[in-house]
Amino acid sequence: MGSDENQAPQAAPRDEKDRVVIFDTTLRDGEQCPGATMTFDEKLEVAELLDEMGVDIIEAGFPIASQGDFESVQEIARRAENSVICGLARAQMKDIDVCAEAIKPAKRGRIHTFIGTSPLHRKYQMGIEKAEVLERVTASVTRARGHTDDVEWSAMDATRTEADFLCACVEAAIKAGATTVNIPDTVGYATPDEFAGLIRMLMERVPGADEIVFSTHCHNDLGLAVANSLSGVGAGARQVECAVNGLGERAGNAALEEIVMAIHTRADAMRVWTGIDTTMLTRASKLVSRVTAFPVQYNKAIVGRNAFAHESGIHQDGMLKHAGTFEIMTPESVGLKESSLVMGKHSGRHAFREKLKELGYELGGNAFEDAFVRFKALADAKKHVYDEDIEALVDQEIASAHD
Ligand code: KIV
Ligand code: ZN
Repeated sequence: MGSDENQAPQAAPRDEKDRVVIFDTTLRDGEQCPGATMTFDEKLEVAELLDEMGVDIIEAGFPIASQGDFESVQEIARRAENSVICGLARAQMKDIDVCAEAIKPAKRGRIHTFIGTSPLHRKYQMGIEKAEVLERVTASVTRARGHTDDVEWSAMDATRTEADFLCACVEAAIKAGATTVNIPDTVGYATPDEFAGLIRMLMERVPGADEIVFSTHCHNDLGLAVANSLSGVGAGARQVECAVNGLGERAGNAALEEIVMAIHTRADAMRVWTGIDTTMLTRASKLVSRVTAFPVQYNKAIVGRNAFAHESGIHQDGMLKHAGTFEIMTPESVGLKESSLVMGKHSGRHAFREKLKELGYELGGNAFEDAFVRFKALADAKKHVYDEDIEALVDQEIASAHD
């Protein structure tokens, strides 16, 4: 566990077999979450940033869902410079053909087709038996392969599907030509050990499994989306589906910034890497928050406003001596200028003196002590102590010293 200084990211192994493909679904699953609708122009703006930041695959939308979705997927496909552009399609011929049309302008396009495989989905959503699910898997993947050689197939509600039947579905998808097989934890039900076991089981049991890429798509209903995705990677999955700020249906998807920084910061433990420019993560988070009008929770890992902020005296004192004492990543590595020491009732003398220096004051012995006592009283009485409060307090202190 221990690491030297804990500040510099470990040198990541850069073997292609250890590369984790980052599949971003902010514009598809993310946009499906209530209230997160984006306009055409906003989608283009988000896609441009994802493309620049090194996202391998952008799931740009669900083209059959609306004319607007079709047009935004098509325009993103036209403009993308680096990323593969993917569209989602149900296991229906019309969906797949429309999706193929939307991604056609892309330098590299992918069709992502899916069907529910669990007993609940078979019985209540589709009213069909196992045999028909298998037929639809073969037919949909075959149709998609007629349009492109990059086809992803997903077993919706995979984690609540009988193991033998899931194996049969995955085998059918691979035989029909799927190049990526995605194992969604659609309702966020799995635990990390279970999810790793599922990926391992599929890799061991399904013929042809070694020729395709296994992917994770974990929802966050129990707050386990990132843990489950990383467990899947540990078991051999090499694509992670995620969304900026963890946007997605209900409690959301695995958060892209958390997946990427966990892999980056703990490359020594994970032994995998991604092609993401991590210094763009803060920008991506702010952009997605702005266009969806979804605030980012203050204490959200990586991109929350408190992620690099320190208030307690012990922490501030440590940070002033060596940032590694209370930070495992540098703020610069996620695109922030610096950490912040927030002045409050938990702050100590060391941080108060540094704050005074930053504001251009140098107070000697008694004046400093008096100012510090007054600052503590103010911090007890007031939730937020701003620089202006401290300035006013010190100015009063200086004035009373001259009286
Ligand atoms: O959660 C899910 O199962 C999905 C599929 C469409 C991949 O979003
Ligand atoms: Zn989903």
